[in-house]
Amino acid sequence: MKRIKILIRYIKYLHAAKTKFKIHSPFVYDLITKVFEDSREYEAYDKVETIRKELLSNVNPLEICDFGAGAKSHPYLTSIKKIKHIVKQTGQSPKHSQLLFRIVKYFKPKSILELGTSFGLSTIYQSLASPESKIITIEGCANTADKAQKNFNTLKLKNIKLVIGNFNTTLPKVLKKFDTLDYVFIDGNHRKEPIIKYFEQCLPLSNNNSVFVFDDIHWSKGMEEAWGYIKKNPKVSVTIDIFFMGFVFFKKELSKQDFIIKF
Ligand SMILES: C[S@@+](CC[C@H](N)C(=O)[O-])C[C@H]1O[C@@H](n2cnc3c(N)ncnc32)[C@H](O)[C@@H]1O
Repeated sequence: MKRIKILIRYIKYLHAAKTKFKIHSPFVYDLITKVFEDSREYEAYDKVETIRKELLSNVNPLEICDFGAGAKSHPYLTSIKKIKHIVKQTGQSPKHSQLLFRIVKYFKPKSILELGTSFGLSTIYQSLASPESKIITIEGCANTADKAQKNFNTLKLKNIKLVIGNFNTTLPKVLKKFDTLDYVFIDGNHRKEPIIKYFEQCLPLSNNNSVFVFDDIHWSKGMEEAWGYIKKNPKVSVTIDIFFMGFVFFKKELSKQDFIIKF
């Protein structure tokens, strides 16, 4: 039933989505042509996809705790799963994590915050896109975080600080480590109230050039409501919906507009 609902939302998205030829905003047009449509094969892609391949063939079991939308009991659910299954269920697709790589490469944010590290694939993409950036990524499950840290060490990535803890308690402390947030990627606990709360907690640190990215904005009715709430915020000017992700911009010089783009 859930899958059918997502499929219906996807069909609605396809119906509403525009191509670049219907976009009159130079900012969004540039973003589409220079970032979304950039089909170059960057060296980083190979590095991350090699790790993904290893994880996808790893049949070892891992005890994981789920703090997020997958948890049916609170505060969290513990289960043992094969590593390859965890990657399949939680990881971004290569297409979408490579888009994040290009977004970070394009905007060169100095400060990056990620909620939801899992095994670190999206973190690595963002780190390789901008080695000068300071990245803090938060993961609730210590066993998963341990694997992510090993992946960061293998690639000798020096710009990532991994914080282990529930977003609900660690986020306020982590935010104190930033003067401003140039880029935020929220990819965990995909539920309406928590997502709105994380957005509102990060919002005071946003600046005119900040980019906030939300994953799975159409995953559930609650996530669609959270996305609707975020779009309406007066500090938000432009938003871009590519179905599996939503991008939020705060540029005051741009008139308020919500785009649905084919990707
Ligand atoms: C979808 S996965 C992240 C995938 C990762 N960004 C990638 O693309 O490779 C979401 C992660 O967020 C973590 N998570 C969910 N809710 C959380 C919470 N409330 N506090 C801490 N971690 C949480 C889960 O343990 C899971 O590893």
